[in-house]
Amino acid sequence: MEIGFLVIFVVISTSLVNGSCPSVCSCSSTTQGSDVNCNSRSLLHFPDLPINTYYIDLRYNSITEIDVQLCKDMPKLKHLFVNDNQISVVQVNAFEDCEIMDTIYLQYNKIRSIESFTFINMPKLIKLYIDNNEISTIEPYSFMNLPNLLNMDLSGNNMSHIDETMFRNLTSLSLLLFKNNKIQSLETNTFINMVHLSELNLSGNNISHIEEHAFGNLPSLAALHLTGNPLNCDCSIFSFWTWLIERASIGTSAICSNGTLVISLESAALETCNCK
Ligand SMILES: *[C@@H]1O[C@H](CO)[C@@H](O)[C@H](O)[C@H]1NC(C)=O
Ligand SMILES: *[C@@H]1O[C@H](CO)[C@@H](O)[C@H](O)[C@H]1NC(C)=O
Ligand SMILES: *[C@@H]1O[C@H](CO)[C@@H](O)[C@H](O)[C@H]1NC(C)=O
Ligand SMILES: *[C@@H]1O[C@H](CO)[C@@H](O)[C@H](O)[C@H]1NC(C)=O
Ligand SMILES: *[C@@H]1O[C@H](CO)[C@@H](O)[C@H](O)[C@H]1NC(C)=O
Repeated sequence: MEIGFLVIFVVISTSLVNGSCPSVCSCSSTTQGSDVNCNSRSLLHFPDLPINTYYIDLRYNSITEIDVQLCKDMPKLKHLFVNDNQISVVQVNAFEDCEIMDTIYLQYNKIRSIESFTFINMPKLIKLYIDNNEISTIEPYSFMNLPNLLNMDLSGNNMSHIDETMFRNLTSLSLLLFKNNKIQSLETNTFINMVHLSELNLSGNNISHIEEHAFGNLPSLAALHLTGNPLNCDCSIFSFWTWLIERASIGTSAICSNGTLVISLESAALETCNCK
């Protein structure tokens, strides 16, 4: 009896010390901190949560913006699931001081742009999913100092241009999904020096032109998906074709707008191009 009372007392006092769980949510204590479940609670705003929160499930609500400094308020935060909301604005300092953040799920929202320095200085971040939003602008230096980022998904947005610095410092990136956007051309030095990149998916864009050296130093690349792009296979495809046939191990589905596989283009025809 006394021990039971003591346990209840300790649980209550711990939750008081650490701030309170919103009444509509359920929170449980773990060795890593509070695990907060506010899934499908019709929330319109980001709620105040216990300061020791390490895991937040806010999926399927109607939150319209991230207007808090998540890790200043919750320094133990590791896993954030806010996908399937109505978020149109992510405040630029939302992820400041997120030293141990591991996972960010922001997919299926209404984000229209990403400001410079929004996703920076997260040394432990492994997964960043921002797919299926309405992003048409990603400013330079939006993704910086994310040395352990492995998986990133920007598919299903409204991007028509990839800035050549966009992926520049993502040294651990292994899977990059950029499907179903509106990219028309891949510029020089866009996908370079990503030594761990193993899969790059650009299918379902509107890519007709690939500049020389758009791809370079991708020693781990095993799959490059380019289906659903109207590649123009005139002489301008020559440098991409050369890069591709020198790397027979890269499975690719790149198809010219006239239906011919890029890898099956005739070398004789392309070499007479005399381009570069
Ligand atoms: C997509 O971007 C274009 C400009 O590139 C803009 O005109 C259009 O409104 C955007 N659509 C959505 C759904 O955001
Ligand atoms: C990449 O990181 C280096 C050093 O960490 C920095 O000087 C450079 O500006 C960064 N470049 C981009 C495009 O983020
Ligand atoms: C990449 O794109 C291809 C072709 O559209 C698709 O079959 C494949 O499942 C995609 N991979 C991922 C990981 O989304
Ligand atoms: C695809 O790109 C071409 C230019 O190469 C442009 O004329 C066309 O409007 C684009 N289509 C879409 C659906 O964005
Ligand atoms: C498609 O275009 C390429 C390059 O111009 C050409 O070599 C090939 O024969 C064409 N294929 C078809 C089916 O017309």
